[in-house]
Amino acid sequence: MKLPAEHLRKLQRTSSGSKRLFKYLRETALNELSDSMATASPAESESHIPVMLKEVLQHLNLKPGARVLDCTLGLAGHAVAIAEIIGAGGEIIGIDRDQGSLEKARQWLQSTAVKCQLRQADFRNLDEVLKELGGGSVDAILFDLGISSYQLDDPQRGFSLKSDGPLDMRMDQGSYISAYELVNSLSERELSSIIKNFGEERWHNRIARVLVQERLKKPIETTQELSEVILKAIPHRYQHQRIHPATRTFQAIRIAVNRELEALELALTRSLAFLKVGGRICVISFHSLEDRIVKETFRKNSQAGVLKIISKKPLRPEDQEINNNPRSRSARLRVAERTK
Ligand SMILES: C[S@@+](CC[C@H](N)C(=O)[O-])C[C@H]1O[C@@H](n2cnc3c(N)ncnc32)[C@H](O)[C@@H]1O
Repeated sequence: MKLPAEHLRKLQRTSSGSKRLFKYLRETALNELSDSMATASPAESESHIPVMLKEVLQHLNLKPGARVLDCTLGLAGHAVAIAEIIGAGGEIIGIDRDQGSLEKARQWLQSTAVKCQLRQADFRNLDEVLKELGGGSVDAILFDLGISSYQLDDPQRGFSLKSDGPLDMRMDQGSYISAYELVNSLSERELSSIIKNFGEERWHNRIARVLVQERLKKPIETTQELSEVILKAIPHRYQHQRIHPATRTFQAIRIAVNRELEALELALTRSLAFLKVGGRICVISFHSLEDRIVKETFRKNSQAGVLKIISKKPLRPEDQEINNNPRSRSARLRVAERTK
């Protein structure tokens, strides 16, 4: 069996668009941030833009000197803007599973005055990270779920169906199970269940059946091959949709490879133990299953008197943001405050 690691190359890439954006973020005060979104050029919108940044900053209620836990640091888009507000006396604890993103984030954050403690970890282990850093509580917590444009746009990471690359999809490239193993070794029933539950794909049975038939001929090794097999399975008349017909299956496989939903409730609950009374938690999700977990976890903690829910309904990006950054389209932001 060919290991996906053989295919992997680390790509260190920073577009000039995102450099300009981050320079801008560093120089921009909170009340000017919506304008920055409005004026982003097409080149900038293709690079990494932090989603619902203005809303996140408004709802986190940050004060100078605050200690903030960013559980999905990514390229530090949100964190750099947070750093501007909390200033030299503030501290950002940043967690990400992806070593490459963490290194980029470190570079961006170096130009700010805050103290930074960045760790490569799964956010399900955030309690260990905080203990290792000496414990203590935090004033605000951010989860911005899913993957970043940095990961999505790199063909070698195998997340995208737009460009060909090895079938990988691991956020943490040190972890063992990649999309290659999953697609080429799970049973038809297991594949069908993943595609149905995590992709909400109506053709899940057909796609799983064709995947199993095709991999008997030869293993499915690349994103292009996977995309072509999925297209074979979907009836012709359903192939011309707004989104690429393989999108839901790709999303499902990515969620399964990274066990994205499994860790979420645990991580949210663990994080609340470190949040000060009066401190805020913001969670951005991009998938209805994720949002349901966030909603339920907030509801349970609100019934227990631990949280007050600030956003009764999830907040959505403004039309202007969606126009400038189409990837923000499915974002939902939920906010809560620790009460005891
Ligand atoms: C949407 S991006 C975050 C972007 C970031 N807020 C920014 O503005 O640059 C999500 C990030 O979360 C990371 N991630 C997803 N699930 C994770 C997990 N379970 N533990 C740690 N990091 C995770 C991904 O690797 C990715 O870098």
